[in-house]
Amino acid sequence: MSSAYEQLRAEGYFETFAGSGTCVVRSIPADALRPEFVNVQGTLGSISKSQAPRRISPRVELMRVPAQTWSNKLVAFRMNLPALEHFPTEVWSKLVNLNSRRPTRQSLAYGDAMGYVPLREAIAEYLGAVRAVRCEPSQILVTTGSQQALQLSAQVLLDANERVWVEEPGYLGARQALLMAGAQLMPVPVDDEGLDVAAGIRRAGSARAVYITPSHQYPLGVTMTATRRMLLLRWAARKGGWIIEDDYDSEYRFGGRPIPSLQGLDTSERVIYIGTFSKVMFPALRLGYMVLPKDLVHAFYTARDATDQFSSTLYQAVMTDFIREGHFARHIRRMRILYLERRTALVEAIQQHMSGKLVVIGAEAGMHFVALLPPGVSDVKVAKRAAEIGISAMPLSSCYLKPPARAGLVLGYGGTDVQQIQEGIRKLKTIV
Ligand SMILES: Cc1ncc(COP(=O)(O)O)c(C=O)c1O
Repeated sequence: MSSAYEQLRAEGYFETFAGSGTCVVRSIPADALRPEFVNVQGTLGSISKSQAPRRISPRVELMRVPAQTWSNKLVAFRMNLPALEHFPTEVWSKLVNLNSRRPTRQSLAYGDAMGYVPLREAIAEYLGAVRAVRCEPSQILVTTGSQQALQLSAQVLLDANERVWVEEPGYLGARQALLMAGAQLMPVPVDDEGLDVAAGIRRAGSARAVYITPSHQYPLGVTMTATRRMLLLRWAARKGGWIIEDDYDSEYRFGGRPIPSLQGLDTSERVIYIGTFSKVMFPALRLGYMVLPKDLVHAFYTARDATDQFSSTLYQAVMTDFIREGHFARHIRRMRILYLERRTALVEAIQQHMSGKLVVIGAEAGMHFVALLPPGVSDVKVAKRAAEIGISAMPLSSCYLKPPARAGLVLGYGGTDVQQIQEGIRKLKTIV
C-alpha cells in the first residue's frame, strides 16, 4: 500500500501542503477520467470502440492494397523466399561473432548515411564484374533493402501528382512506395519484349520517371530486349525522365550469363540502380543498395540521413567479410544450381500432372515463374482454395492496376524443395 502511494507521489499525482496533509494534484484536468479516455483495462489515453475512425493522412488510403487472398505462410510456392536451409549459417555466425567480439569506438557510434565504406567498395566491385554496372564506391548508398531504395527514390525524385510509368503487371511494393510520395501511376503494358516503351510515350510522354525490372520482369519473367532498352534510355535522355531500375534477382539466370544492367548502357546518367541482398542472402538481413548518378548523391544522402540515418554497422561489416572471403560468390553459385534443379522439378511436375491446365511462362531466371490458367478460371479463387490446403499461390491478377489481361499463378520455387514441389502440384491439381 505504501509503495503504491510512493509510486503515485513520484509520478506527481499528489501535492503536499504544510499543516494540511496531502491531496490529489489540482492541475490534473477534471475530465481526464471520462470514459472515452479509459479503455477496457482502465488505463488512460485510449479511445472508446464506438468512436469513428480518426483522421490520418490520405496517403495511406491511396495505397489501395489488394485484399490478401493468398497464403503468405512459409509453405510450397511462397514467393520471394530463398532456400533458407541452404544458407551457410556457420560461416555467417562465425563472422558475426568475430565482428561483435572486437568492436571499435567507431563501429558502435553513429555511422555514415551512405553506408560502411568497405562494403560500398565491395558492392561496387561486385556490380562492375557481375552486373556490368559502371560506378565508383562513392555512388553506392547502402539501404535496408530495395523497398527503402524505392521509397527514397520516390521522395527525392518526385513531386506530388507527377506521373510515373509502372509495369503492367508489376510489383506492388514499388507502386506503394510511389503512391506514398503522391505520384500518379501510369500503367504501361509489358509484352514479350518487356515494357512497351512506345505505349508509355503515347500515354504519358512527359512522365517524370519509370519503374522497371528489365533483367527479369516482375512477375512475368520477360527480359527486356536491347531495342526496347535503347528506346527507353533515349526517351529518358530527351525528356529528362528518371529510370528506376530494380535488379532484384538477376544473379539467377539458368541459360547463359546474367543480362547486363540497364545502368551499364546509360550514357546520360538517368538510371537509378537498385539491388538487394534479400534474395541472394536472406530477407531478414535487411541490406540492399542503390547506385546513384553522381549529381544526385548529396540529395539521396540527405534523404537517407533524415529517414533512419544508416543501416546496422555490424551487419554491414559482416556482409563485407562475407563478400571479401569469397563466401558470397560461392553461395550464389551453389544456389544457382539448386534453383535450376527446383525450377526443372516444378516445370516437370506441372507437365506431368497439370498439362493443359497450367502454362508456364518466363522460367529462364530467378526464383519464381508464372503459370497461366485456362480462360475463365479465376486466379483469386484458386489462390484462396490453395491457401486453405496449405499452398501459397499468388494470383497474377493482383499484380495489375487495371482489369487484368491474364489470369495465372505466380509460383515461387526458391524456398520449396523438390519433394514439397511434387506434393504441392499434386494438391494444386485437385483444386484447379
Ligand atoms: C521486384 C522486387 N523488388 C523489390 C523487392 C524488395 O526486396 P527487399 O527485401 O530488398 O526490400 C522484392 C521483394 O520481394 C521484389 O520482388
